[in-house]
Amino acid sequence: MMRSILLRLGTAAFVSIFASTVLAQNSSTIIRSTVRGDPAAGKNLAKACDACHGDQGMSPIDGFPNLAGQNFNYLVKQLREMRTAAKARAENVTQAARATGAFGQRNQRSNETMDAVVVELVDVNIINLAAYYAGLKCTTQSNNAPEPPKIETRCQICHGKAGISRNRNIPNIAGQNKIYMTLQLQSYREAAKTPSGSAADGRSAPIMETQAASLAAADIDALSDYYSRLSCAK
Ligand code: HEC
Ligand code: HEC
Repeated sequence: MMRSILLRLGTAAFVSIFASTVLAQNSSTIIRSTVRGDPAAGKNLAKACDACHGDQGMSPIDGFPNLAGQNFNYLVKQLREMRTAAKARAENVTQAARATGAFGQRNQRSNETMDAVVVELVDVNIINLAAYYAGLKCTTQSNNAPEPPKIETRCQICHGKAGISRNRNIPNIAGQNKIYMTLQLQSYREAAKTPSGSAADGRSAPIMETQAASLAAADIDALSDYYSRLSCAK
């Protein structure tokens, strides 16, 4: 029975069911598929973001992420997590408490650079900002991408064949900035080594920790270089 259903669905559908099941178990926030947001309202709020993420969502700084064309659900989840971390920091949660309490749990993201802009964002603003950035055009051109590193086949199941994910919960990584991706993969790898997830600044998401745990520094460099040179036009 199960087998015939799977055969009828085909591999692509199976992969997407697999990814959604894993995500459903791990996501701290589930965003209903009917939620859309108002990009025009988001555009107004985004003035506070331009300096670091670019006025069209393409960051001028290699260590900071491009947001243009990124998947909506993914953006909402990141902003909510960074808001939680910013609030904990504002409330002066101590380092020790962070390591054991809400701050240090899995599925958390914390980055002090983002604190001031997210700490006061109400949910509707987060959703509107995400709608705005998801609707912008990512413009990285393909730039002499090298042969994909062998290990890259592992990434395709979730991030798509050329770094463009069809699942709104999984980020596109094609054309993302190299230094930024290197830092993220290092953060996940660090979190994988910490039983309670990342305790201070950093990033924890079990699904990516599993992936990053076995990456050598050279793999992280090669993967970040490869994806950063792919075109992100969809
Ligand atoms: C002072 C610079 C700065 C400003 C201003 C800023 N950001 Fe960021 N943002 C960053 C940095 C640095 C990161 C990467 C954090 C990390 O490494 O975890 C980031 C990460 C993000 C991410 C995660 C992207 C991803 O691919 O996971 C989102 C979403 C985001 N910012 C949205 C915003 C929005 C919306 C605003 C305005 C309300 C904003 N940022 C303003 C510096 C900034
Ligand atoms: C099983 C699914 C899955 C696989 C396989 C996978 N990823 Fe991910 N990846 C995710 C999810 C989900 C996220 C977002 C997690 C979060 O919320 O922090 C993510 C996040 C990322 C990010 C951060 C993107 C950003 O904008 O901040 C990078 C970089 C990344 N993955 C690279 C890779 C690479 C390289 C591989 C292969 C070695 C890989 N991933 C394999 C699911 C996967």
